[in-house]
Amino acid sequence: MSDTATGLGEGAGWGEFVTTEVRDGIAWITLNRPDKRNAINPGIVREMTAVLDAMEGDDAAEVLVITGAGDAFSAGQDLKEYFRETENWPPHERDRMFAANAAWQWRRLMYYRKPTIAMVNGWCFGGAFQVLVGCDLAIAAEDATFGLSEINWGIIPAGIVTKSVSMVMPQRDAMYYIMTGETFSGTQAAEMRLVNKAVPLDQLRDEVTRLAETLRKKNPHVLRACKTAYHHVRQMGWEQSLEYLMAKSDATKFRDPERGDEKGMSQFIDQKKFKPGLGAYDRES
Ligand code: ACO
Repeated sequence: MSDTATGLGEGAGWGEFVTTEVRDGIAWITLNRPDKRNAINPGIVREMTAVLDAMEGDDAAEVLVITGAGDAFSAGQDLKEYFRETENWPPHERDRMFAANAAWQWRRLMYYRKPTIAMVNGWCFGGAFQVLVGCDLAIAAEDATFGLSEINWGIIPAGIVTKSVSMVMPQRDAMYYIMTGETFSGTQAAEMRLVNKAVPLDQLRDEVTRLAETLRKKNPHVLRACKTAYHHVRQMGWEQSLEYLMAKSDATKFRDPERGDEKGMSQFIDQKKFKPGLGAYDRES
């Protein structure tokens, strides 16, 4: 598929297993194997890596939304193509593909330069939790079905799935679903804070669009610093966090191309034209 706004797509390293559409500042990125419930195969790993590389430098893509084609977000890693068929690959090639998968699903998404939203439209299993947690925010359909199904076929939630769920789910819920392999709904996912919100499926895209619009109004340089700082301080003690955050704050202000803090302060104190408690300053003025 070719991409309406950027001209990227076919010939740019994706289009078969992952499709993209960039419209009004939002990059809609769709895992595209609906007949296999968007199970993650080496093709998705390759194409998602290319998409994330390209979108990072594409000014038309301000917020990324990751979703799935058909009735699935993703059924996790492809048991056949990702595991069984790679068993006889040369070890270094298999290791490289596994590393590339961990990279896009976790490190790349977590520290991505732009805001990311997982739009969970349906089935979400196993390895798909890494993508879900790797995204900054997540909105699910109320009837979406989630499951840490690894125990059902005799493995532990590996890759970095167990770490991912331990960062966002309460312990009792994480342990319960890891150990039972039972499924839960989008509504339950919202109750246990695995996703931000669950809405009826027919409202999902509108809800995600509204959230993306809110993010688009914020200073992108500061937004990037906020998410990076959040992930780093979670691993630090209090003293280091204070030092790091004060230094990061200075660096963020110093390197901000639009001098957001000065604009915001002036619009509030001098011009009295906005209230920071209620929304973002006007980036255009
Ligand atoms: N890996 C490989 N193929 C898959 C996967 C998967 N994870 N999930 C679905 N498929 C394939 C099926 O084999 C089937 O292929 P076929 O048409 O060639 O037979 C096709 O997708 C459709 O799957 P169905 O099972 O027929 O679809 P249904 O809608 O009835 O059920 C469901 C969907 C519940 C998601 C089911 O496919 C399933 O349980 N999938 C596995 C989910 C899972 O346990 N994922 C975790 C994997 S472990 C990990 O990620 C580390």
